[in-house]
Amino acid sequence: MFFFCFLQIFSQLYPQLKKIFFSHFFEENFTFFKFKFMNISKIAQLIGESVTLKLNETVGILQKQGEPVIHLGGGEPKSKAPLSAILAATAKINSAEVRYTPADGITELKQAIVRYTDDFYRRKVDLQNVLASSGAKQALMMAIQTLLNPSDEVIILVPYWVSYPSMVQMCGAVPVFVRAADGSFFPTMSEIIQKITPKTKAIIINSPNNPTGLLYPESFIAEMVQYCEKNDIYLFIDDIYHRLIFDNKRPISCFDYTDVATDNSKLILINGVSKQYAMTGFRIGWAVANRELIKIMAKLQGHQTSGPSVVLQVAAAAALTGIEPSVESLRINLENNRDILMAQLKTFDGIKVVKPDGTFYCFVDFRKYDADSMRLSQFLIDKVRVVTVPGIDFGMEGFLRISFCGTAKDIIDGIARIKWALEPDSPKELFIGDKKIIKTW
Ligand SMILES: Cc1ncc(COP(=O)(O)O)c(C=O)c1O
Repeated sequence: MFFFCFLQIFSQLYPQLKKIFFSHFFEENFTFFKFKFMNISKIAQLIGESVTLKLNETVGILQKQGEPVIHLGGGEPKSKAPLSAILAATAKINSAEVRYTPADGITELKQAIVRYTDDFYRRKVDLQNVLASSGAKQALMMAIQTLLNPSDEVIILVPYWVSYPSMVQMCGAVPVFVRAADGSFFPTMSEIIQKITPKTKAIIINSPNNPTGLLYPESFIAEMVQYCEKNDIYLFIDDIYHRLIFDNKRPISCFDYTDVATDNSKLILINGVSKQYAMTGFRIGWAVANRELIKIMAKLQGHQTSGPSVVLQVAAAAALTGIEPSVESLRINLENNRDILMAQLKTFDGIKVVKPDGTFYCFVDFRKYDADSMRLSQFLIDKVRVVTVPGIDFGMEGFLRISFCGTAKDIIDGIARIKWALEPDSPKELFIGDKKIIKTW
């Protein structure tokens, strides 16, 4: 009897259950089942989407819908690429001879990188010590793929750039996070050493840092370089914001702290034209390292992309050797934006801020308003159309990354909207363009 009733109810509910189970859970929520169904690799299952690229997509969609979005989550300067780069790229295209290049890059670009390394790092290297890649991201990925075996460990300091853990995981290796016990953005050398095991293959360091905008102290970098050289641990130095620093601080060179010759060194210097030359879309970055390593990185890159596009390589070479003061004018503009942002943030009661030394990011502690950074970031998009990046994606909950690479107006208006949305005693209404928003929360 009971079984009969069950069958009756089940058969009546079956179409509904099927709809819920298959369309809702199966197709939308249970990515796991989807992956299983498609037979996706274990590594691909592990890797999440790039949060920052996803946010750019969200901004694009909202803007297309005519929404008055302010993007304080961006990761690229708004200034123009140097004219020398544009002219060189155009001339190359006009030649109608756009061919493959050597996998490690054209000599002209590698010579420019050798010169750059001499000028800004006081280290003379050979062409064989240089690999040109499609962005600093690919240069770093080539180094990671060249060195890591599954289950090798890589030390990553918290907070970190969003891509590091995924890049390490893409090799089946293990990211090992080091957090400062005092809650600051600066793990100490002894905290790092405590996490070193026989499986530790490399440490990644990024200064000035994305997301904090802060420089690690020079003494810390010196100690780190010497530790890695002495203990056979590779040190990936991500210097993509190297010269974008403020308050008369001078860019430091990792090579100043080691006597080891480049070809015996454990240092792998990563840089590129994306940020400093406002050339993110050109996708040119590079690595400078020991020539044996570079040779293997080039071998892998040859099978992956056959090297970067020649059009973009000539553009990058022209930017690096050109005489325009584009990096300096961008730097000055960013310093001014940083100051504007600091002045705006000062008017907030509940947040904690550390003034950035460089980059175009500030990592702000919003825990007094909401400790869940994902929820807070979404709330700000939904309510006042301001985009920020949740701190959790950089390994630190309760913070939001706020970019100051846009216009001064965006910074001022964006922070005013955030403040209005979060401060309990702000007025009930806010005008965004001709749209009136009423506070219902
Ligand atoms: C710390 C850091 N490293 C590397 C990159 C990637 O640089 P590229 O655009 O040259 O690949 C970024 C970009 O956001 C970054 O923030």
